[in-house]
Amino acid sequence: MNAARDLLEAARAVRARAYAPYSSFPVGAAVEDERGRVYVGCNVENASFAAGLCAERAAIAAAVADGAHGLRAVAIAGSSPGPTMPCGICRQVLIEFGDPVVYASGLDESVHESRAAALLPDHFGPRDLGRP
Ligand code: THU
Repeated sequence: MNAARDLLEAARAVRARAYAPYSSFPVGAAVEDERGRVYVGCNVENASFAAGLCAERAAIAAAVADGAHGLRAVAIAGSSPGPTMPCGICRQVLIEFGDPVVYASGLDESVHESRAAALLPDHFGPRDLGRP
């Protein structure tokens, strides 16, 4: 079993359910929590554009609602020609839950692998507020 491949496959599958009528840029995300459980999410746009939700945060909300406390990995399947990297807000939300490995992909076969903290250097995070 290849964990990265499975997570990317889950992200690609849920991308098909994205609600992205304004951008025509569907995104799917899959996260693996500290227990090894996998949760998926897609972007959900809105006529009031600022109310739109990114796929990563949708997946993280599903994980937290089911009892997740930390994330091991996240896979993103966007609609860029190459890897779709997480937006700034999603990077901040990712580092709240540890330093997950980030597998970013788009429409081609390439995958960009990184870590959440590396994507948000010198970040403000839970430790600044006395959290472990
Ligand atoms: N989007 C995501 O869902 N995740 C990302 O990492 C990048 C952007 C969404 C937001 C919006 O619905 C659409 O992609 C275009 O920005």
